[in-house]
Amino acid sequence: MPKQTVRDIEVSGRKVLVRVDFNVPQTESGEVSDDRRIRGAIPTLVNILERGGSLILVSHLGRPTGDPAADAPFRMDKPAERLASLLGKKVVKVGDTVGPEAVAACSSLAPGGIVMLENVRFNKGEKKGDVEFAKKMAALADCYVNDAFGTCHRDEASMVAVPEQFAHDRRAIGFLVEKELNILATLLGEPRHPYVAVMGGAKVSDKIGVIENLVKKVDKLLIGGAMTYTFLSAMGHSIGKSKVESDKLEMARALMHSAGDKLVLPSDHLVASAPEAGAETKVVVGPDIPDGWFGMDIGPRTAAEYDALIQSAAVVIWNGPMGKFETKDFAAGTKAVAQSLARSPGITAIGGGESAEAIEKFGLADKVSHVSTGGGAFLESLEGKRFNSLGVIPDKV
Ligand code: 3PG
Repeated sequence: MPKQTVRDIEVSGRKVLVRVDFNVPQTESGEVSDDRRIRGAIPTLVNILERGGSLILVSHLGRPTGDPAADAPFRMDKPAERLASLLGKKVVKVGDTVGPEAVAACSSLAPGGIVMLENVRFNKGEKKGDVEFAKKMAALADCYVNDAFGTCHRDEASMVAVPEQFAHDRRAIGFLVEKELNILATLLGEPRHPYVAVMGGAKVSDKIGVIENLVKKVDKLLIGGAMTYTFLSAMGHSIGKSKVESDKLEMARALMHSAGDKLVLPSDHLVASAPEAGAETKVVVGPDIPDGWFGMDIGPRTAAEYDALIQSAAVVIWNGPMGKFETKDFAAGTKAVAQSLARSPGITAIGGGESAEAIEKFGLADKVSHVSTGGGAFLESLEGKRFNSLGVIPDKV
């Protein structure tokens, strides 16, 4: 059932507490280096302001430790500044979350005003899902909107206990969460065929739940990244000095058995004499990596084979890079897959931190149907998990 959204609740003259996920990458000097998550929340924020509401924004940033000096880079000032410049409006950033500054700023908040609370994880009650802390936060506002898709897999106070303090007709999801849930419904419901998943990344063990769930739905599951070598090793091939999860070979065998011919492994590899920029490289064809060499990326033949499958697909989902793409020497396979998705006539969805980062880096994000703002939340959704943070938002009536 679709969830009640911000457009279904009254916001005029109300203070709306919006849980956003402004947990954004930062430069060493603390500047926001990727504002996709901030931009993603804008439609919800503008909608509330245009309908006569005011905004109280709450987010976490990083994983604060409780040491104020070490946690200083996790203050919400920079994301608040970026939001103000994107909206072209004043954002009042306060120095606490439920303390006197927040209470004062929120009580004098007029329609059209915007307050950004301090990093919610500076409060011990947040991680614990503490109800007393949640009551204090809920008391700042008249209604609650969850537009923090990237945090939906967490049971923290601002995600679950806070919305529980509001009447059912005062809780909703925002447009970003709605958009993410719609694409997930397409990917996990009854998608059109051919349906192709491209899975990369370092570890089979990180992706096992996703692979097990997706393999029931897709026609082909194309493998790349370092997990390739765990699969090849499980099949008895030599993998040289490539990364491998030696304790997961049995798991890899079981996955290959259940996936049958849906699971496609690279037919060639870019190998390097060392896993670093500037090392000697060559392409090897076939399932074996020569002794002393490191498998670093899929090869050109694999990229072409994967491209053909992606171009003929009605739906494509991509999670995880094909190689160590942060290093230019090993980025060609990931770039080729990004370009294939960008050219594909089907529905194309990308999720998980690194593949989203890759498609942005290659300047192709606007050429695909959807780039998720969720890392862990997107993966856990693909595993078929249900989130308490969404369970507390009523279904649309
Ligand atoms: C994310 O970046 O995946 C979310 O913001 C959640 O952050 P967390 O993994 O620190 O809970």
